[in-house]
Amino acid sequence: MVSETLTPTEISLRRPDDWHVHLRDGDMLREVLPWTVRQFARAIVMPNLVPPVTTVSLAEAYRERIRAALPPGADFTPLMTCYLTDAIDPDEIERGYGAGVWVAAKLYPARATTNSAFGVTDIRRIERILERLARIGMPLLVHGEVTDPEVDVFDREAVFIERVLAPLHRRLPELKIVLEHVTTEEGVGFVAAAGPSVAATITAHHLLINRNALFAGGLRPHMYCLPVAKREKHRLALRRAATGGSPKFFLGTDTAPHPSADKESACGCAGIFTAPAALEIYARVFEEEGALGRFEAFASVNGPRFYGMPLNETRVTLRREPWRVPERVGSVVPFLAGEEIAWRLV
Ligand code: DOR
Ligand code: ZN
Repeated sequence: MVSETLTPTEISLRRPDDWHVHLRDGDMLREVLPWTVRQFARAIVMPNLVPPVTTVSLAEAYRERIRAALPPGADFTPLMTCYLTDAIDPDEIERGYGAGVWVAAKLYPARATTNSAFGVTDIRRIERILERLARIGMPLLVHGEVTDPEVDVFDREAVFIERVLAPLHRRLPELKIVLEHVTTEEGVGFVAAAGPSVAATITAHHLLINRNALFAGGLRPHMYCLPVAKREKHRLALRRAATGGSPKFFLGTDTAPHPSADKESACGCAGIFTAPAALEIYARVFEEEGALGRFEAFASVNGPRFYGMPLNETRVTLRREPWRVPERVGSVVPFLAGEEIAWRLV
């Protein structure tokens, strides 16, 4: 709901959820968790720890560590995921789903991104798992990039859709699939044209930057993530998808903190830490697109509907009140560090 003035000063919406976060573990978890909790009621927690979350007991233990790290009085539900490997047992997946420990399975193609070394080497090796997911109604969350070194890094999502995702959806049309952090016109087009079982998350940063941001006046490690930002036409396609009102697209920040030393390095890690200002950045994008009236659906409705979960009943307010993103959060440099943001979550 948005107030009816031409330039609203407040936005009120159902409390949103983040359908894709990296909360990490240990000290980093304690450092970054409050930023997510402040904005979101629930979050889909990525399982790419070292070692990855591949068993029900690892997921339960991780969920306990997250709960233990919550700020006092916080109302936040971590939704756990299972890291798929070539060797994972479909019965273990079904057991964790039935017990309510994890709500989705994450497909990382092996070596596609951070901590994906134990990921799936070839989708044909997990056919039994995919069939099981389809049968029990458990969503498959996909890091949609091929790892073929012959494929240009900026084409890896589009090629993944052609070689892997489209055939998978044809083979198992009932399988619920989320194309995570979609970055291309091709990705958006695939999701829009696919059946109702296919959806996508869109990050705040991919709505804001194109690939020029990686090279603006020099190499910008804090703008580097995977899938990497693409050309401007792709950013515009993402903006249309996010703000266009389709229920297939919803909020997933992919906030992914790394210590600054690991990013400002000869081989910098992929990941952008957007949690300090994520909701406010999305609000800016919806305002710029003249689509504030569709903000709540993207942030708070489409995700739970896809996952078959209840909508949050409490509300949050964003006020037009400029503030600056902190220069650092512990060892991490956030996205838009030191820059002014027009909307503030109150
Ligand atoms: O940029 C990324 N960072 N992309 C991913 O897929 C993983 C994430 C991370 O864990 O740092
Ligand atoms: Zn991610």
